[in-house]
Amino acid sequence: MLGTASHPGRFSGVSTRHFGTTKSNESAQLFTLTNAHGVSAEITNYGGIITRLLVPDRDGRLGDVALGYNTLDQYLANSPYFGALIGRFGNRIAHGRFTLDGRVVDLPAKNNLPGNIPCHLHGGNVGFDKVIWTAEPVTQHGASGLQLKYLSKDGEEGYPGNLAVTVHYWLTNANELKVEYHAVTDRATPVNLTQHSYFNLRGEGSGDVLGHIMQINGSKLTPVNQGMIPTGLITPVGGTPFDFAQPTAIGARIGAQDEQLAFAGGYDHNWVLDRRGPGLELAATVYEPTTGRVMEVLTDEPGVQFYGGNFLDGSGIGKSGKPYQYRHGFCLETQHYPDSPNHGNFPSTILRPGETYRTSTVYRFSTR
Ligand code: GLA
Repeated sequence: MLGTASHPGRFSGVSTRHFGTTKSNESAQLFTLTNAHGVSAEITNYGGIITRLLVPDRDGRLGDVALGYNTLDQYLANSPYFGALIGRFGNRIAHGRFTLDGRVVDLPAKNNLPGNIPCHLHGGNVGFDKVIWTAEPVTQHGASGLQLKYLSKDGEEGYPGNLAVTVHYWLTNANELKVEYHAVTDRATPVNLTQHSYFNLRGEGSGDVLGHIMQINGSKLTPVNQGMIPTGLITPVGGTPFDFAQPTAIGARIGAQDEQLAFAGGYDHNWVLDRRGPGLELAATVYEPTTGRVMEVLTDEPGVQFYGGNFLDGSGIGKSGKPYQYRHGFCLETQHYPDSPNHGNFPSTILRPGETYRTSTVYRFSTR
């Protein structure tokens, strides 16, 4: 237990408890970060998973806006990356194959879409979402945080180089959950880390997210083929169901006749963000009209994968005992573009010895 009182009647800081034991007998802990307003995030060092996120609605009532499970065993048994850290590479790499400095690198690849071409998804069979990270509660400028470290060994999931990764989660008194990623390597390797939280701002288990009002500051998209691999083109979204420049309900155009919607079964695409420079910029704003909750996503990344929960099928029973069905949550995965190692025209994801990989994303909560 560790904490500091900073608001009358409130506890802010970080508390720790045992969460469960993995199949290889490693112990997973659960850390609760709480801020001065009672906003809290529960995070386990198994996969760096955000298991719970309590934020107020417009009447000040706290609600859990993150999809997830009550027990570690459920995460071990069946999780579509609920709340998890993703690495070494967010999203797909075609056939799990690319050429790096003249050498072909082969990563485990499987068919994760019925009838489609094999690919490497979210770091492979045992990505960063399925490993135990070394965890330590930390505080800084009044924010409570969690430091997570993981050493991904040379050859792990086929990737070259020992990659030393540090992720910090910070919960600030401005109701922001900030994720800072840092990595160094001893051989050139692709790195594209992200966070795979599924949100439902009305509250997890409260039904679909089609009524959420989405705005994305991205006027271009990396369209995909039938295997959900980027074609390499970067195309404008104007006039298509992918244009979220104006706040628009997720469900408003999701049933439109559109090849990209058909390939992905809905929204599951990488938007190219309209950036003015380096540093944190607003990527997306999501508003849920019945509760008034607003989530803004700020990032220094060039892209965001907006995934609308099209593969959720009710097989996961959530924290309040309700199955997570089709489109009951959405993800905003800030990242470099999918399959970047195979597209010379995309911003590079290759990290080399002597370089530092550093990126941050902020999920900021408020109400209207
Ligand atoms: C990402 C992908 C989706 C799907 C989910 C996990 O968001 O883009 O296609 O694989 O992860 O189910």
